[in-house]
Amino acid sequence: MTNFFALITSTMKVLFVSPEVSPLVRTGGLGDVVGSLPLAIKELGIDVRILCPLHRACKNLKTTFFAQKGTVQLRDLEFPIRIGETKLGSSGIPVYLVENDSLFDRPGIYSDSNGDYHDNPTRAFVLSKAALLIDQITGWSPDVYHAHDWMAASLPAYLNANRPKGKRSKQAKSVLTIHNLEHQGNCSYQDFLRSGLPESYWAIDGFENNGSMNLLKGGIQHADKITTVSPTYSNEIRTPLFGHGLEASLTYRGADLLGILNGIDETSWNPQKDPSLPCPIDPDSPQSGKKACKESLLSEMSLPANQSPPLFGVVSRLYRQKGLDLLIECLPNLMSESDAKFVILGSGSEEEENAFRELAKRFPERIAVFIGFDDGLARRIFAGSDFFLMPSRFEPCGLAQLYAMRYGSLPIARKTGGLADTIDHFSRSTSSSNGFLFDHANAKSLRTVIHRAIKLFGNPTQFLKIRKNALHSPCSWDDAANCYAEVYKWTMEIQVEEKLSFTKRA
Ligand code: GLC
Repeated sequence: MTNFFALITSTMKVLFVSPEVSPLVRTGGLGDVVGSLPLAIKELGIDVRILCPLHRACKNLKTTFFAQKGTVQLRDLEFPIRIGETKLGSSGIPVYLVENDSLFDRPGIYSDSNGDYHDNPTRAFVLSKAALLIDQITGWSPDVYHAHDWMAASLPAYLNANRPKGKRSKQAKSVLTIHNLEHQGNCSYQDFLRSGLPESYWAIDGFENNGSMNLLKGGIQHADKITTVSPTYSNEIRTPLFGHGLEASLTYRGADLLGILNGIDETSWNPQKDPSLPCPIDPDSPQSGKKACKESLLSEMSLPANQSPPLFGVVSRLYRQKGLDLLIECLPNLMSESDAKFVILGSGSEEEENAFRELAKRFPERIAVFIGFDDGLARRIFAGSDFFLMPSRFEPCGLAQLYAMRYGSLPIARKTGGLADTIDHFSRSTSSSNGFLFDHANAKSLRTVIHRAIKLFGNPTQFLKIRKNALHSPCSWDDAANCYAEVYKWTMEIQVEEKLSFTKRA
C-alpha cells in the first residue's frame, strides 16, 4: 500500500496558482503558505511548481524567460504573456511568473492608495487562464492545478470548460484552497461576459450570486476538491455566521470540502537561529533567552526596563476580522487593574491605528505602538513578549499564534477556526496547555482571559511549564503535506464523466 502511494505521489505533478508567494511577493498569510507548503510537498516526491503574476515587486528577481510566448484569450480581449522562471529560495522549486505589464506591473498586488484595482476580475481571469498555457509554454504539464483564493478561483471553471465532453479521460484535476472566505472577488455580469467562460456557468450553481459574479463561488462549484486551512474553519464556513453568504455552496460541496491545518516554515522560524533576535531561545531551557529578548524589546520600544510585569504582544493587520477593537476597548481598564505592558505592531484601519497611537500617548510607560510592518520587529515581539494577543472574530487558520508559540509567547485567542485547532486552553487542571482561548467576541471576555494570563504569570513554575509546552507545540508542514498529497490522489481517482455536470451543460 505504502509503495503504491509512493508510486503515485512520486510521479505526480502539481502546479500551485496564487497571486502571492513569499518571499517574492506577499501581503500576508496566503503568501507565507504558498512560499512554504510546497517545500514539504516536494519532500514527498511530488513535482510541485508555483505560478504567480510577475508583479512589480518581482521585477528585479533573477528570471529566465521561456522563448515561447503565449496569448490569454478572454471573450473579446487578448493578453500577450511571457513566462519567466525563478526559484523558490534554495529549494530549487520553479516559480513561473506571468508577465503582462499592463495588468501586473503595479505598486500593489490587489490595490494601491486609490483602493482595489478596477480591473481585478480581468487580472484574476488572466492569471487563472495563463495556468492552462503552462504546458504549451514550458513543456511541463501538471496533473493537478492547486488554485489559491479568489484570484485563482476561476481556474477550475476554465479547466472544466476545456475538458472533452462526456469522455472518461485522464484530464488534469483542480483543487481550490480557501484561505479567507471574506475575500470572494465579487464583480458584475459584465465581468462574467468578459471572462469568456461558457454562458451556462452563469447559474446559481456556478458564478452567479444574487445577480453578481462571484469568483470564489464559481471556484467552489467547479473545483474537483476544495480545502480550507483548518478543520474547525471547514465546519464554521458551512454556517450563516461564518459563511459570508456562501454557506449554501459550501454545504452543497460538503462531501468534497476538507480542512487541513496550516504549518509554518520551521527553518525560517527557528528561535535558536533567527538572526533578527538579540539572543537565541532554547525550547528546553528558555529562561535566559526569553529574558534577554524581553529586555531588548522593552528597550527597542522605549518602555521602562522593569521585567517583572507581563508583556503582551500584538502583530496584526488592524481591521475588524482581527478583533483588536476589543483590545482598544479594554486597555484603559487593564491599565488600572494591572501592571501589564503592551507592544503593538500593525497597520490597517485608520481608526484603529489612531486609537492605538492615542493609547500609547496616554500610557507611554505601558503601551508602545509601531504602525506599519517590520518583519524583524515582528519576530522580536514574538520572542520578547510573554503573551501574544489574537482576539480574531474569525480566523481561518492564523499563523501568528504558531510563530508566537514557537518563540515562547503564550497565545491568547478567540476560540475560532485554526486558533481553536492549535491552542490548548489553560485551566488549572491541564498539563498539556499552550495558551488561552475565550469564547465571545467582546471586550469583557478578552479582559477576563487577560486577567487569567496575568494570574498564571504570577506562578513562575506553572508559567514555565506552559511556556515549554508552547515552545514544543507541533507546527511543521509534514502532516498537512501528507493530507494534500491524499487530496491530489483523491482528485486523480475521480471519473471526469461522473463528476462534471458542468461540462455536460456547456
Ligand atoms: C489568511 C487567513 C489566515 C490564514 C492564512 C494562510 O490570511 O486569514 O487565517 O492563516 O490566510 O492560510
